[in-house]
Amino acid sequence: MRVLVTGGAGFIGSHTVASLIGAGHEPVVVDNLCNARRSVMARLAEITGTRLELCEADVRDAATMRAIARDGIDACIHFAALKAVGESVASPLAYYDNNVGGAIALIEALLEAGVGAFVFSSSATVYGDPETLPLTEEAAIGEAVNPYGWTKIMSERIILDAQRANPEWSVSLLRYFNPVGAHTSGLIGEDPRGTPSNLMPFVAKVADGELPQVSVFGGDYPTEDGTGVRDYVHVVDIAEGHVAALDAHAADPGAHVYNLGAGRGHSVLELIHAFEEASGRPVPYEVVGRRPGDVAATWADVTKAEERLGWRAGRGLAEMCADAWRWQQRSG
Ligand code: NAD
Ligand code: WQD
Repeated sequence: MRVLVTGGAGFIGSHTVASLIGAGHEPVVVDNLCNARRSVMARLAEITGTRLELCEADVRDAATMRAIARDGIDACIHFAALKAVGESVASPLAYYDNNVGGAIALIEALLEAGVGAFVFSSSATVYGDPETLPLTEEAAIGEAVNPYGWTKIMSERIILDAQRANPEWSVSLLRYFNPVGAHTSGLIGEDPRGTPSNLMPFVAKVADGELPQVSVFGGDYPTEDGTGVRDYVHVVDIAEGHVAALDAHAADPGAHVYNLGAGRGHSVLELIHAFEEASGRPVPYEVVGRRPGDVAATWADVTKAEERLGWRAGRGLAEMCADAWRWQQRSG
């Protein structure tokens, strides 16, 4: 299929572009490069052996999105969004405009062009603070603790209502837990602007000597070692989950929600020790106060994606750390 990939030069989008090509699809990449480098495209060509054009555009540009959607697009995977939680608190209007406004403009263009399938980048953040674990897709949508989380909750609602009004349109909402790691080539990976707020890229920079130590946010959570527990899932597994969701639409159209996680949790200290193992480098850390808005623990029940998509994350924490370390060494 000819697949429009918005945000396709970004962390998860670029890995998904590589998996799409590997699965015989034809990705069409749109990205405004607000949080990505154009050089990703050449690296994708090196990985896949396929030259890819980048359409440098904003999904809020309705005329451009309409023109692209009309150009033989069969499906769309929508990654384009701003995702820095702290930034969303400081600049909520920018997040609502970009993430919600962008989704609406894109969906209008897709529906007008009759593009049949839509896969949306959602987030486990929509669950808020879990009442029971593991989290299934039937768990209640929580109260977001930041505007970023609200943009995902709102976008999900908009997509489901639009699908109900247009039943010929087939949609999948993919709720990612904590995507980490990098393509095994070391050519593409997580490339945050400035000091990373997410744990894995921060740990990688400490191991590489770029940052002095990890501040472990909280050592008094009700978890095995007192530090936060998350469901880390390899970004290539996530990418493969998108291909599986896309391919499932033909046989199973309608509106679907899937958790994309590894189905198990690891603590901050477990990840730090796994990274020391993978890199052979010490990762000094200091346990400090909790970070506002953090939940103690969350991880996914992935039964539904397994049974309906035939997808399961196959790469463990050691591989996530090894691939993240290789990426840090090649790009740091
Ligand atoms: P990213 O910032 O690396 O990728 C997003 C891409 O979208 C970037 O290349 C950026 O330049 C582009 N973009 C942003 N706004 C745009 C716009 N208006 N028009 C065109 N391009 C635009 O982030 P990522 O980690 O790859 O996340 C991809 C998606 O997955 C996002 O929707 C994010 O909310 C979601 N998600 C990410 C995580 C995570 O931990 N990384 C977890 C859950 C969900
Ligand atoms: C993981 C664990 C921290 C940094 C975020 C977004 C979420 C989604 C995924 C977009 C937590 C601890 C972290 C550090 C630490 N993104 N930590 N020191 O917060 O689970 O999720 O990314 O959708 O919306 O909220 O990921 O990597 O920031 O934190 O101790 O320097 O590591 O407390 O327990 P998080 P994270």
